[in-house]
Amino acid sequence: MKIEGKEYRTIWFQNNTVKIIDQTKLPHKFIIKDLKTVKEAVNAIKTMEVRGAPLIGATAAYGIVLSIIENNDQTFLQKSASDLISSRPTAINLKWAVDRMVKKLSGVNSEKILEIAINEAQKICEEDIKFCEKIGLNGLKIIENIYNKKKDTVNILTHCNAGWLATINWGTATSPVYHAHKKGIPVHIWADETRPRNQGANLTSYELNEEGIKNTIITDNTGGILMQRGQVDLCIVGTDRTLSNGDVCNKIGTYLKALAAKDNNVPFYVALPSSTIDWKTKNSKDIPIEERNSDELSKVEGIDEDGNIKKVQIYPNKSSALNLAFDVTPAKYITGLITEKGVCEASEKGLKNLFK
Ligand code: MRU
Repeated sequence: MKIEGKEYRTIWFQNNTVKIIDQTKLPHKFIIKDLKTVKEAVNAIKTMEVRGAPLIGATAAYGIVLSIIENNDQTFLQKSASDLISSRPTAINLKWAVDRMVKKLSGVNSEKILEIAINEAQKICEEDIKFCEKIGLNGLKIIENIYNKKKDTVNILTHCNAGWLATINWGTATSPVYHAHKKGIPVHIWADETRPRNQGANLTSYELNEEGIKNTIITDNTGGILMQRGQVDLCIVGTDRTLSNGDVCNKIGTYLKALAAKDNNVPFYVALPSSTIDWKTKNSKDIPIEERNSDELSKVEGIDEDGNIKKVQIYPNKSSALNLAFDVTPAKYITGLITEKGVCEASEKGLKNLFK
């Protein structure tokens, strides 16, 4: 997708260095950052310079590459793998990508290991792009159906950023939107601001603006009234972990949007590549929900009149705050899952039909 008219991916590998777009500086500054060590990769994931389930998976895969460049030794590789997996707890993609890399590299002799690791990390990225593109084509049919009935702009609400910035390209929730736009279907996006880190306002709106797609930022509490007023035709969100029973764990606040959608008969879809399916965990209560520093609530960041990025405190020091980063939307509130293999019911039967 484009930034200032130039095509980018969110991550690439060049001269033994991993290149990322530092998402903590967007939308105010576009900075490409170099990661040269596994520690830097872990740090980029923890501080959310890279974020979004598929992208942190890809970064972890490249983290394994960096660990081999640093120190081509099995003990160091195992330690790096475990540091990368634990850098953020909720998105299953981290473990999925690291396990895939480690499996691919087991038993490989030390002369060949780097080349094989680079190829596998690249394969993970290429696969993600292909899957996200297919998600777009499968989700496009849903938007097309609404447009064919309505014959007017399709209003889609999304939460957080499940856009191309959260993946390698295309995005998951935004991929059907990009495909609809390319096909000439008029679309307008309601972008939930997504407190406290404002991924909707800072990233979703930004990437849609760069692609020329109409969007409006709303506070996280506005979706309900828009649905009551008939101003939302469809919700599409992403996921960090999808259980085999169809329950979906995504950015905090997703659950409340699903409840409002149910109450107002608004279709609520979740878009996902198969790398975010957790086939093992059976009960959503067993999903580790990330709790981040309460500073993310009490301090807000923005740009001042001189163009400097500044943080200001909005709560008194004495106030305590709780910062849970994800919640679970039970399958019963989900109209369907949009995957690379097609759209299915959010249920064990639905998922197993597609992913035998
Ligand atoms: O905390 P973040 O910004 O990493 O959370 C991202 C989300 O919740 C996305 O919706 C999810 O990772 C899906 S990305 C295609």
